[in-house]
Amino acid sequence: MPIVEKLGSFFLGREYDLKTHQTLPDRPVNYDARDLTTHALVVGMTGSGKTGLCIDLMEEAALDGVPAIMIDPKGDITNLLLTFPELRPEDFLPWINPDDARRKGQTPEEYAATVAKTWREGLASWEEGPERIRALKDAADFAIYTPGSEAGLSVSILSSFKAPDLDWDTETETLRDRIQGTVSGLLGLIGVAADPVRSREHILLSTIFEHAWRAGQDLDIAQLIMQVQKPPFRQIGVFDVETFFPEKDRFGLAMALNNIIASPSFAAWTQGDPLDIGEMFYTATGKPRHTIFYIAHLSDAERMFFVTLLLEQIISWMRGQPGTTSLRGLVYMDEIFGFFPPSANPPSKKPMLTLLKQARAFGLGIVLTTQNPVDLDYKGLTNAGTWFIGKLQAERDKTRLMDGLESAMSEAGAALDRAALDRTISALDNRVFLMHNVNLRAPVIFTTRWAMSYLRGPLTRQQIKTLMAPRKAQVAETKPAAAAAATVAARGVAAGAATGLMAQPPVLPPAIKQVYLPVALTESQGVRQVADRAGGSVTPTEKRLVYTPALIGFASVRFVDRKLNLDETQDIALLLPLDEKNKVVSWKDAQPIGLDPRDLADRPERDAFFAADLPPAVTDARAFGRLAGELADHLYQGQAYTLAYNPALKLYSRPGESERDFKIRCQQAAREQRDAAVDKLRAKYQVQFDRLEDKLDRQRRELAESEGQLKGRIGEEVLSGLATVAGALGVLGRRSSSLRGLTSVATRRRITAQAQANVAAAKAEIARLQAQVEQLKNDMEQDIKQVTDQWTAATETIQQVKVMPKKTDIDVQMVALAWAPTWEVTYEDARGRNRTEAVPAYRVEA
Ligand SMILES: Nc1ncnc2c1ncn2[C@@H]1O[C@H](COP(=O)(O)OP(=O)(O)OP(=O)(O)O)[C@@H](O)[C@H]1O
Ligand SMILES: [Mg+2]
Repeated sequence: MPIVEKLGSFFLGREYDLKTHQTLPDRPVNYDARDLTTHALVVGMTGSGKTGLCIDLMEEAALDGVPAIMIDPKGDITNLLLTFPELRPEDFLPWINPDDARRKGQTPEEYAATVAKTWREGLASWEEGPERIRALKDAADFAIYTPGSEAGLSVSILSSFKAPDLDWDTETETLRDRIQGTVSGLLGLIGVAADPVRSREHILLSTIFEHAWRAGQDLDIAQLIMQVQKPPFRQIGVFDVETFFPEKDRFGLAMALNNIIASPSFAAWTQGDPLDIGEMFYTATGKPRHTIFYIAHLSDAERMFFVTLLLEQIISWMRGQPGTTSLRGLVYMDEIFGFFPPSANPPSKKPMLTLLKQARAFGLGIVLTTQNPVDLDYKGLTNAGTWFIGKLQAERDKTRLMDGLESAMSEAGAALDRAALDRTISALDNRVFLMHNVNLRAPVIFTTRWAMSYLRGPLTRQQIKTLMAPRKAQVAETKPAAAAAATVAARGVAAGAATGLMAQPPVLPPAIKQVYLPVALTESQGVRQVADRAGGSVTPTEKRLVYTPALIGFASVRFVDRKLNLDETQDIALLLPLDEKNKVVSWKDAQPIGLDPRDLADRPERDAFFAADLPPAVTDARAFGRLAGELADHLYQGQAYTLAYNPALKLYSRPGESERDFKIRCQQAAREQRDAAVDKLRAKYQVQFDRLEDKLDRQRRELAESEGQLKGRIGEEVLSGLATVAGALGVLGRRSSSLRGLTSVATRRRITAQAQANVAAAKAEIARLQAQVEQLKNDMEQDIKQVTDQWTAATETIQQVKVMPKKTDIDVQMVALAWAPTWEVTYEDARGRNRTEAVPAYRVEA
């Protein structure tokens, strides 16, 4: 009976008679696509044909234009890409398993021919011709993504930390769930099995996510690591962050997260298409996609992480879609063992349960398979509307399956004949399934139709690479922007690896304080400086801000010297670049820097790079701890307070006083000293002047007296001459008696001579005294000159005096690993060679 293509109806096979073991040719099983919105579970032992059945389902979905996201833990689903409309042996040749050929004693070519024949005949028996295969090939865009590997298409998980485009007011629960899943996955990746409610790791990371996403900020692992060390909030619940999760312990978490970045395969996680569900379901032109996420190569923790992340993304995407009753898309996971267990609670369980409960309303069908019915959480699977039960042998598998199915049926209001079912399940052949569909009145037993895809089994990574190579080349060609974006996403690893740079600061023990020098130079200023050095303008091919490691030390040193009346405290900031990894770190090489601790930033600029190699002094907490003491020693030995000293004036310069100011002050002091000395001299001389002056006065008086006497003598002599005349004339009267004493002329003459001598003596004495005054004046001038000269000279000698601090007066306030920003500019020089120059982007001068 030919296939009737009916949209919305999936041709899965034909009914099967268990008694005769015959397929009933005229009883096709056309499954209503809408029934998949209530999800399907496929169980059966290994080899029972589960994957074959699901491949059939996917092929039908593709033909119907229904997109699918497939999680492929074993590598079997990749076979969906092995469709060859012409079914030629050479089409099969690259994909056959050479071991199978050897086992059959055939050459690969012979074996490929055998396989091609099998497939041609198999398909023909189901009346599936080349046309249908071609239609399938064209119906959807089939692609294999290999998270964490570059074999297939790359997918960037970093975008999954992007702030979701959902409203926090209405979608709080979805967002919280998403955070919880992401965080659980991340913690699983680093080997922390965390209870979302109790684990402080989980709570801290979740709080960081919520804090960022509420603010619309994207996160990546590097930022996450930084925020673990320095959470952007003070409190978690009612507790202070430090109390809740002390820094020392947070460091352990940061280190563990850092191991993710440090792993060589991390780059693969950061490149490629973003994990955008909308884009995984449809191409840019609107063609449905069948997107396979191959995870066979990943470790258990990585698989858990990725699957959780993917499921959470699907939930977020789904919640942004309008409701529908039609099948909008499929999510298929081949083998869910470990992801949806009955008792344990791995991170994937919650989103899986959410999907099973909610996806229906959005038309999203979930298809799950397992060969381990015992390890499934059937409570969750009561939501599954279709059960495809394949061959099962182990009793406990059957029992558990029937328990689950029974509760699913009773949920749907139907009863289950356990005895009959038990018999049926035991009698099933390979590729024969018992379909329990809650939408059908009775269960159906059917054989799966021949898969159009070559069911070759798991492809190797190399085969995936071959399979996806043309596709990758096409992506690189048509999407240079995307390729560039991928480079940016991978800049931390890919670009950095080549140059010893990282996109994030290394994770260091919390005891090692890290600070960031402020960027004081713009990018264009940086380029200009590089151009100046190169002696002309340069055309940069690359510019980047690179943080290089340095040590910074802040200390205050108090200098006390009672004698010098010195009590000064100096603030000291020293920067010690750590440009060579193995160089011994010595504060002797440090330079003063004009920075205050308040100028420092506690986080780097965005999109900066970091030097990867750090000397042990700043990676080893103990070595780092010694640096403060070494700085104190260095300051103790080397730090002197230098004072200018004027020995003549006994003056010391004041703190901060320039040499010039000190000289001026000395001059003034000398002038004052000189003036004082001169005053003193003058005073001393004044005493002598005064004494001489007294003497002079006395002499002058004596002289005046002597001169008076002499005048009198002369007058008397005249008078006596006259008296003689007058006596003779009788006119003298009363005075005649005195004149009578002077009787003799000789006596009178003697007296006169005496008076003359007195005058002369007095005059001589005065002259002598005056000479003495002159001499004294001279002496004084001489003395003054000498004193003046002395004080003038006093300003000339200035010595340096050093005051050393006491050990207890040195206070080291902070030693930190200082990230010093530099602009690294790469340009082509005149000879066409690539050159890279770096200029400091921080303020260098003290
Ligand atoms: N629909 C089909 N068309 C053609 N061949 C099929 C089909 N289904 C199964 N087979 C064949 O049976 C083999 C085993 O089937 P399948 O891989 O689906 O088993 P399974 O139940 O998925 O086993 P496991 O649990 O080990 O994954 C396939 O490799 C293929 O050769
Ligand atoms: Mg399988």
